[in-house]
Order: sequence, then structure tokens, then C-alpha cells
Amino acid sequence: MREIKIRDLIKRKSGSYSIRGWIYRLRIVGGKAFVLIRDSTGVIQAVIDKQKFPDDRWSSIENAYIEASIMVKGSLRVDERAPNGVEIDVEDFNLVNSLEQFKITEYQSPELLLDLRHLWIRSRRLTDIMIIRSHVFRYAREFLDRRGFYEITPPIITTIGGETGANLFELDYFGRKAYLTESSQLYAEAMIFSLEKVYSFAPSFRAEKSRTIKHLAEFWHLEPEIAYYDNNKNMKLQERLVSYIAQSLVKNDEEILKELNVDVEGLKKVKPPFKRLSYDEAIIKLQEKGSPIRWGDDFGVNEERLLTEDEEKPIFVYNWPESIKAFYMPINPKDPRTVLCADMLAPKGHGEIIGGSERIWRYDELLERMRKKGLDPNRYQWYLDLRKYGSVPHAGFGMGIERVIKWLLNLDHIRDAIPFPRVINRVEP
Ligand code: 4AD
Ligand code: MG
Repeated sequence: MREIKIRDLIKRKSGSYSIRGWIYRLRIVGGKAFVLIRDSTGVIQAVIDKQKFPDDRWSSIENAYIEASIMVKGSLRVDERAPNGVEIDVEDFNLVNSLEQFKITEYQSPELLLDLRHLWIRSRRLTDIMIIRSHVFRYAREFLDRRGFYEITPPIITTIGGETGANLFELDYFGRKAYLTESSQLYAEAMIFSLEKVYSFAPSFRAEKSRTIKHLAEFWHLEPEIAYYDNNKNMKLQERLVSYIAQSLVKNDEEILKELNVDVEGLKKVKPPFKRLSYDEAIIKLQEKGSPIRWGDDFGVNEERLLTEDEEKPIFVYNWPESIKAFYMPINPKDPRTVLCADMLAPKGHGEIIGGSERIWRYDELLERMRKKGLDPNRYQWYLDLRKYGSVPHAGFGMGIERVIKWLLNLDHIRDAIPFPRVINRVEP
């Protein structure tokens, strides 16, 4: 008898098969057990007839708990009343584990479901999201690999911050102070001098004190870095990457997207080019829309929403004020108050999904900027070295995968885009 996945099984009409899964629903009606069984690919109904089994085996299934693991063998039969139009007449079954009643019952608070995340992760909705997440990782890598990028593996433990350094998690490294990385960019930069086009796909850590719907303390960060790239090429690569992910989902994952109530037609429109607004233009637009924002301010949730509420695709806001951006971004020669960078904002207020820029590639300029920003150059010796031996202009960006998933699937909260979310008040399970 052939072992088969439920997705393949429900396409057939007859034959004998064996499946392995978990009990999703169980109803006992008139000497028959109607067992909905799920595996990673779908759900099917299996019918166990009391007549066919000794009393002790019947009572084991009669008393089985939801979520019990089960193997069944039986023959497939077309039945219009069954959920997928077919069901299995069970010839043999094996209840693998059914020790206690499942901890999650029908109505539970979101907080409790987060406490029970290790169990709730099996819900249909989270299963669907985790499949999409796995595919988003795959498509992103596919896109970059096909363009000749090398994937690199940066260290997670570091001694310097890559961004503001204000939100670093500190740890005791054999008596020395070290930190969980907030970005792998600086290491990606080190590797372009041999590999030219690289990306790292790794967790970044931010000890953000804010409790918001889009901040995680641990998130997965895709960070490409490319030799001889400028801000323009950087934006082009980003819009192609994001569009590739969206179009691959549309092409391969439509069924799951629909189950998750995603606006697939909307996703189809995510194609280059994306709108580009300079920071100056964005400020004018925001003020026209009634925001009290002034030139030099960073955007808050409200500004991000005002700018993107009517958009169907992400937009870029480029060349931000020097004072609110990281130390490594070069001055814009056309307006020295600003730097050569761009953020990509997702539509409908989902917020910033990518931050990218050119990098200062000249030694003196970098040293001067670090001093201006109050950073101690001694701690950045190795990073400064990169500007001494064959430095070249370069650029790169960082994309927060959970932010992207939150936008693509229109999730209410970023925590559902990652299996075990780490936020300010939660580090378990
Ligand atoms: O804008 P950020 O801070 O930029 C960097 O870290 C650069 N070093 C990246 C680079 O150029 N290589 O972060 C980049 C992206 C943001 O646009 C956002 O999508 C995501 O990382 N991100 C977060 N995602 C979830 N939770 C958080 N707390 C995040 N902080 C940033
Ligand atoms: Mg940013």
C-alpha cells in the first residue's frame, strides 16, 4: 500500500492508500468515526466503522483527542458529502500518540495563543503562512542566485553596531562586551572585495523598546551588497527583487493565498517601476495631506500611512536628511543636507520594508563622518581598513523578511510572519 500525501490523494477517485497525519476533527455518529485528518498538504475525511475493529481498538479511536497523531490505511471512495469530494474507508489504523486533551480549545485570547505558540503553530492559518514564508525565502534566494550573487554567512556576535547602535543586545563574551548583530551589512561590505555581489540572509537583533505591530527583537534580514553600484541601480534591484517575490507567489501559491484571503489581483500589479519620491517631495506631499511634519523629521506610522494609503505597489523615498540616517551614507553632491539612500515603503501603511544606500567608500570621508556622529573610529578599525586597500564605490540594502510577509499577506501584526516571535514582552516559547 502506497504512502501518499493528502494533496495528491484528493485528486484521485479510487485505490488503496496509507496516510500519516493528525486528527483535525472527530465526530462519532451511529457506530462510525468520521475523522478529519490533516497533514502538511491538506485535509481528508477517513471513516472508521466500529464493526470492523475489536472493542478496545474502537474505543481508542472513540476516545482519541484532537491533534492525536494517526496513521490510516484504506480505500479511497468518491463521496459528494465529504469535504474534498472523496473519503477513505479505513481498513487499519494506528493511533501513534494521544496522551492528553489538546490545550487549545475553540475560543482563546491572542495572548494565550502566543503562550501556546508551540501548539498554535499547527493551526491552518499559521501553517499556510509558514509555507508562504518558506517560499518567500526560496524566491528571494532564487532571484539573487540567478543574478550571480554569492550567499555569505556573517557572524551573529559582533563588537560594533551597524546602524545607530542604540538598540544593541549586549552579551558577555568571555569577559568582554559583545553584541548580537543589528545588521550584517558591514561584513557584507568586507566580502564584496573578493566576491563583488553578495547577500547575507540571517537574523538581526534590535532591542527596540517600542511595542508596535511591525517591530520584532529578532527578525530575518536579507542584505545584498554590490561593488560599483549606485543608489539608482540599488533601487532597480530592489524593485525587481520585490516584484519577483510577489509574482512568484501569484504564479505558484495562489491556492494558499486565497485561503489566507489575500488580494491576489492586487499582488499581480506589483511590477517595476515603483514610484520614486525624493524626501523633499515626500515632505511637501505629507504637509499637503495635513501632517505636521517638518523638513528634517523622520517618518512615523502616520506619515508612512499618508504616503502609501492610495498606492498599489511599494514606493521609494530617496535622499533623506543626513542627520537622521546612518554614518556610512555618502553626502548627496546636489544637496549636502541629504545623503544618497532610499527606503522602500509598502503600500497601505505597512511601512518601511527596505532600507538601502550607497556607502562612503573613501577613507577620509568615512573617518570624518564617524567623528561627526560621535562614533569611536578605534572600534571600527577593520571597517575603516576596507577603505584603504582597493576601495570601490558600492551600495546595498536590507530587507526585513517579516515586514515583507506582513505586507504581502496583509497581516495585522508582524508576529504572525515568524514562527516564534521575539518582542519586548515575549521570549518564550
Ligand atoms: O533600515 P535598517 O535599520 O537598515 C539596516 O540595517 C541596513 N544596515 C541595511 C543594509 O543596508 N544592509 O533595516 C533594514 C530593514 C528595514 O527596512 C525593515 O524592513 C527591517 O530591516 N527591520 C525590521 N524588521 C522587523 N523588526 C524590526 N525591529 C526591524 N528593524 C528593521
Ligand atoms: Mg531603516
